[in-house]
Amino acid sequence: MKKDNLYIEKESKYGAHNYHPLPVVLSKGKGVFVWDVNDKKYYDFLSAYSAVNQGHCHPKIIKALNNQANTLTLTSRAFHNNILGRYEEYITNLFGYDKVLPMNTGVEGGETANKLARKWGYLKKGIEEDKARIIFANGNFWGRTLAAISSSDDPSSYKGFGPYMPGYSLIPYNNLDALEDELKDKNVAAFMVEPIQGEAGVIVPDDGYLAGVRKLCTKYNVLYIADEVQTGIARTGKMLASDYEDARPDILILGKALSGGVLPISAVLADDAIMLCIKPGEHGSTFGGNPLACKVAQSALEVVIEEDLAKNAAELGEIFRSELSERLSDNKLVKLIRGKGLLNAIVINDTEESSTAWDICLALRDNGLLAKPTHGNIIRFAPPLVINKKQLLLCIDIIVNTLNTFE
Ligand SMILES: Cc1ncc(COP(=O)(O)O)c(C=O)c1O
Repeated sequence: MKKDNLYIEKESKYGAHNYHPLPVVLSKGKGVFVWDVNDKKYYDFLSAYSAVNQGHCHPKIIKALNNQANTLTLTSRAFHNNILGRYEEYITNLFGYDKVLPMNTGVEGGETANKLARKWGYLKKGIEEDKARIIFANGNFWGRTLAAISSSDDPSSYKGFGPYMPGYSLIPYNNLDALEDELKDKNVAAFMVEPIQGEAGVIVPDDGYLAGVRKLCTKYNVLYIADEVQTGIARTGKMLASDYEDARPDILILGKALSGGVLPISAVLADDAIMLCIKPGEHGSTFGGNPLACKVAQSALEVVIEEDLAKNAAELGEIFRSELSERLSDNKLVKLIRGKGLLNAIVINDTEESSTAWDICLALRDNGLLAKPTHGNIIRFAPPLVINKKQLLLCIDIIVNTLNTFE
């Protein structure tokens, strides 16, 4: 443990204190496993917040990274490059949109979608300049920029960082009546929502919610923006969580596992009528669409398809929830087990302020499995999608045994 402390103390001394990591210092990753600096091996059940769906250091993605890194990494969009167009063709065909706007982080994807929606609102819907509104759901999380925190109802995200972005409103999640009330306002340009709320604690809406959102947005000429940064790329058992219903978003935001956890890569997809509202010089990023990122993203998507990771996530997710529900049915600490595919959570029967979930995560760590609480009393379980059934059953044993020592 001494070795760990040296690394932890250095981070604490020289780094900003904007995170509270679990005390474990990782130095290596492969597939579903990570190793700490003492060579202890763990199952990774966070997958870097669902960025490592393809498993740590996937050989195909790393090969693409290395090859391109030795050839051309960045040109900026001041010039064309020989990789970007091919990637754009690939990703738009795969997801069925006319165009893509490549960015880097997930939150930049969200910002891009918001700008696109506002511009569309003025140019196409005829909203009066500066009057465009975007509606969000309570409990949303899409990052840490000023725009993202302006739509947040979590004080730890927004408190002390005002003034906030105007033109944003919140409605309850999973509530179509509340949505319809807002959409009647002609100044509403878009509704932006996560198909399953990840950071809020893996909140799965009722069946039919997304199809209902789609229908209402069409009825009131409002853009439906799906934030699939966490739910996308096979995490929930389909390529997109939106694919479970007849709910094609007007604007789709992807990030995280779009790179297999190798580089920050995000993408915003939309059809021409929306995407072409943004003209040259009106939006961009030095690194967005760089050749290295394009190669990595394309190979990361190919891995998801070649290895049928959506199917694996769907099948193993069912096993995960049913096994845990059965084996923990008498455990008083477990309030609820929920999720879809391999995006799951256990709600601990204690207050948000209690340290129980954190203590359970420390014990899971000691037992060789890494997970992290979200919102105090909820533990998210999201392993890389390359996990196999034998490994999953072993992990279920670890989780059950650990939770049973806490009861
Ligand atoms: C749904 C969702 N959107 C956006 C983001 C922001 O992504 P990033 O941290 O890459 O900016 C996150 C991050 O957790 C997320 O879960």
